[in-house]
Amino acid sequence: MRSLKNKRILLGVSGGIAAYKSADLVRRLAEHGCDVRVVMTRGAQEFMQPLTFQALSGNPVHTDLLDPKAEAAMGHIELARWADAIVIAPATADVIAKLAAGTADDLLSTLCLATSLPIAVVPAMNQQMWSSPATQDNIERLRHRDVAVWGPGSGSQACGEVGAGRMLEPLEIAERVNDLFNTGSLAGLRVMITAGPTQENIDPVRYLTNHSSGKMGFAVAQAAVEAGAVVTLVTGPVSLETPEGVERVNTTTAQQMLEACEEYADGCDIFIATAAVADYRLAEVNEHKIKKDHEELVITLTKNEDILATIASREEAPFCVGFAAETQNIETYAMGKLQRKKLSMICANRVHGDSNTGFNADSNELHVYWENGKKHYPNMPKTRLARELIQLIAEHQQPDI
Ligand code: PMT
Repeated sequence: MRSLKNKRILLGVSGGIAAYKSADLVRRLAEHGCDVRVVMTRGAQEFMQPLTFQALSGNPVHTDLLDPKAEAAMGHIELARWADAIVIAPATADVIAKLAAGTADDLLSTLCLATSLPIAVVPAMNQQMWSSPATQDNIERLRHRDVAVWGPGSGSQACGEVGAGRMLEPLEIAERVNDLFNTGSLAGLRVMITAGPTQENIDPVRYLTNHSSGKMGFAVAQAAVEAGAVVTLVTGPVSLETPEGVERVNTTTAQQMLEACEEYADGCDIFIATAAVADYRLAEVNEHKIKKDHEELVITLTKNEDILATIASREEAPFCVGFAAETQNIETYAMGKLQRKKLSMICANRVHGDSNTGFNADSNELHVYWENGKKHYPNMPKTRLARELIQLIAEHQQPDI
């Protein structure tokens, strides 16, 4: 199983005797590297104390729809923005019915309605309740909306009856959490991604660079590998861990990044250029450290070749996705780059020194444009944004699926 490191799981616990197993589930998820936050329904609190989940998850437990401690008292919106996926275990017949009907009368049901996150329900109830036509109808409706339904298992139940309705064991649920992220939408495809800044040497001790951290590109690489692609990540100098399953190629200058991309471009289906490549390098790099004995220093720069445009102009060009960091006129500038560089898609982000988006931030907001369409993604963690973007790219690269 692939590591779930840094995945943010919102665990919904509803009121059934299996709620005691959810405490172990929190531990299992944490062991797999997840950051877990727990939302308990009123019924769940009859079976378990919030303190138990708080101690195991290391995070406060959420129980109320209107949370005075949350920004604007809208805890459900903040939690939905925080998470990567929602798992409801145990999911009682009542919670399943609420989800199917779109009811929003407590924190958990409202959260599920206020999000486009992947949701999994892990049913736990009496076997007669599970097999009732009402529950089966509700389950069908949830499946139809792409809600994952895990289990239930069969066997002897807490009520003394025997049959289907037992909640899956915590270990199995933790293993299935991977399925929420492994979409398979890029299965069998080769994806090349550039990330981070480049460094252009001035002399042996100095260089020109920019504020790119590589976070956006590494998140895209992770999302692409989770979607089943074979991923090559050509990166500038950054101090980020390579996502599991990704082939990493380290480069420093724009010229090295170009050479690496040309080497790996053959047979590539999709090219996503998130890197902030230096537009210019020194016409001549000084062999020795420049001494500070001049009042003024003039450095002559020469233009770097455009990596993205070079790959996009190949005879058998991959589906090319560019990024554009803009401070103004986002749509006009981004559309200009889309057309000039002959791209399939461009993702524009506003950069304005705000620590919340763009360079070196953990989250980002994107305006994505293609020939006859556009889509806006509000500010969200780069990891989640990357997954949404990969899904969009998959839909456009393979319009028939
Ligand atoms: O790395 P992070 O800290 O997470 O920040 C992410 C980011 C802000 C760097 C990223 O989201 C982003 O916007 N990257 C593009 C930066 C940019 O300004 O690109 P550009 O407008 O200079 O270039 C447009 C496109 O051409 C980009 O896809 C770029 O990778 C590509 N390009 C540019 C110049 C060049 N010589 N070769 C290229 O391939």
